[in-house]
Amino acid sequence: MAHVVMFTFPAQGNASPILNLAELLALAGLHVTFINTENFHCRLLRHSPEHFARLSTLPRLRFRTVPDGLPKDHPRPILEFLNLERSLRTSSRDAYREILLNKDGNGWPPVTCVIADANLRLAYEFPEEMGFPVFFFRTTSAASFWAYHCIPDLLKAGEIPLSVDSDMDEMVENVRGMEKILRRRDLPSFCQRARTADDPFLLFAVGTADDTRSRAVLFNTFECLEAAALSLIRSVHQTTYAVGPLHSLLQGIGGTAGDTLSGLWEQDRSSVAWLDEQPHRSVVYVSFGSVAVVSEEQLAEFRVGLVDSGYRVLWVLRSDLMGSEKQGAPVWAGELEATGKMKVVGWAPQREVLGHPAVGCFLTHSGWNSTLESFAAGVPMVCWPFFADQQINSRFVEEVWGSGVDMKDVCSSEAVTRMMRAAMEGERAERMRLAAERLAEEARRSVGEGGSSRMEFLRLVEDIKGMTA
Ligand code: UDX
Repeated sequence: MAHVVMFTFPAQGNASPILNLAELLALAGLHVTFINTENFHCRLLRHSPEHFARLSTLPRLRFRTVPDGLPKDHPRPILEFLNLERSLRTSSRDAYREILLNKDGNGWPPVTCVIADANLRLAYEFPEEMGFPVFFFRTTSAASFWAYHCIPDLLKAGEIPLSVDSDMDEMVENVRGMEKILRRRDLPSFCQRARTADDPFLLFAVGTADDTRSRAVLFNTFECLEAAALSLIRSVHQTTYAVGPLHSLLQGIGGTAGDTLSGLWEQDRSSVAWLDEQPHRSVVYVSFGSVAVVSEEQLAEFRVGLVDSGYRVLWVLRSDLMGSEKQGAPVWAGELEATGKMKVVGWAPQREVLGHPAVGCFLTHSGWNSTLESFAAGVPMVCWPFFADQQINSRFVEEVWGSGVDMKDVCSSEAVTRMMRAAMEGERAERMRLAAERLAEEARRSVGEGGSSRMEFLRLVEDIKGMTA
């Protein structure tokens, strides 16, 4: 009997796909122990009791928590993840060791292997020291990971660090296979911001991209979407599984919890009721994921640009979108809602929203989960990337996949209106919609019977089972 331990970085964009994979593995007959920090797990439980109640009906899936070492009332801003990682590393070690040694076994088999969030060094370094085989789970696209992997080449060739007056439209030469795609402004944000080769974020990215010791790498992507990037990765790392979109695979296989994971905030279902009243493809859905922070000025540009576009808008304004927790939406939100053309919520059931016929396009920060969810729903995107892998995702959406436009570093009301129009009406919008619909069809095929992601998932299950022999 195989037993997999999975350890997620405590963030929505990481925990959500890793939890989907945990459920899939448990449904496939493996024993799965899912590790989360105490604080993060409590937050997830608070907002998704139904989800966890359903998961608790799976006899082979169990949850374990570890302390992150921070005071109870610490806000744990995700953008300070280097501090969180450091604190977690020292405080969770003992609890992690107990789990790996299966101390509270209760009839569970010994641990076969670990699937570690590749953003969390502790999650893989510690089991490696103890001799457990480790699979890396990458929460980014394969293309973004490949760019991370090439950071040492960029450094060696002197392409980064960039100077303050660099021409950001110049093509990047040392991300092999992407020489015709990436401009400097498309590099991951920490590559653009680093002014010295020992910048801590750069070093962190280089460290986490060095996965030469892992047994295998898992991507939440699908073969025909990222065949080129996956093939580059396989040239250095032969065992690579592309098993995404995981939320679609789970739906296809009949997962128990499906889309009920709300995440870090409570879903406001009035967003769906409002969409029910709107005409077909008339609404722009706006959300910047769970981490992005925008300034008051940027928010004002978006507000004016969206209003000027004349489209109906469903806007997710997280309570901490402007940095610190603020109670309630800004005053102007109420005024705009009164016009009937805008609906503002703190957190939405995003996948359901994207699948709603009233939604015409998605203004997104290009997080990888949001990008995949948009593909799966066949919705064109206007991309305004915030940080890390998102700069590459947005470039690929416009340049390679053709299902959206990339606003990149521009944030003016005129640009917002122009981009909205480009994605909502006219010939270009039609081309983007056709590309988005084709991607949705390909995503469906890849998770369906005999599809590439489903086959890769079955191979993963067999490979793990084979390790117990
Ligand atoms: C981050 C990074 O952006 C991403 O690129 C990385 O690979 C993982 O971590 P985040 O910034 O939160 O995550 O963005 P994203 O990856 O898009 O994940 C956001 C998730 O929150 C999505 O699954 C989305 O469905 C969900 N969400 C967002 C909601 O459920 N409701 C909302 O209102 C907004």
